[in-house]
Amino acid sequence: MENPGASGARNAFLSQGAELVPVDVDNEGMVVSDGLSKSPHFRLAFVTPTHQQPLGHVMSLARRFELLRATEEAQGLVIEDDYDGEFYFENAPQPALYSTDTSGRVLYVGTFSKSLFPALRLGFILVPERMIDAFDQTFSAWASGPATATQAIVADFMDEGILPPISA
Ligand SMILES: Cc1ncc(COP(=O)(O)O)c(C=O)c1O
Repeated sequence: MENPGASGARNAFLSQGAELVPVDVDNEGMVVSDGLSKSPHFRLAFVTPTHQQPLGHVMSLARRFELLRATEEAQGLVIEDDYDGEFYFENAPQPALYSTDTSGRVLYVGTFSKSLFPALRLGFILVPERMIDAFDQTFSAWASGPATATQAIVADFMDEGILPPISA
């Protein structure tokens, strides 16, 4: 996990018994070499590449490729939390890790909390195709998902082009 990093994600991982490894962050995002020196056989990396939470840095392209390469070598996975990827100021955003990944190791997590409003409680996850069934079964075992009407309304917004496209 990025250090400093997202406290909500940290708490979720801890609640599931994960052994967390804090990885340094600089102005290019997660310092992948630091993570590898501490945990060469990591199973999961959690990153906020678009705007590092809480420092706000954008992960550089070089670091993105470094992380994808390292993840493939470790046969691990990445969670890309793109919680405010719709917002950028000077430069167009870098391509999402999810869309750069060629080995199906990135899970992309998005939310409508920023582009619409947090009380909507609507988010989404894009997973590699081989994981769709597992996610579907696990998720439906403990939750029935957000209200269907809410999902349909947001889908209409997207179809009408009112919402910016998802970068992944
Ligand atoms: C790092 C991070 N991920 C995701 C979210 C979005 O969370 P939610 O979709 O539950 O509002 C936030 C909210 O601020 C956040 O800081």
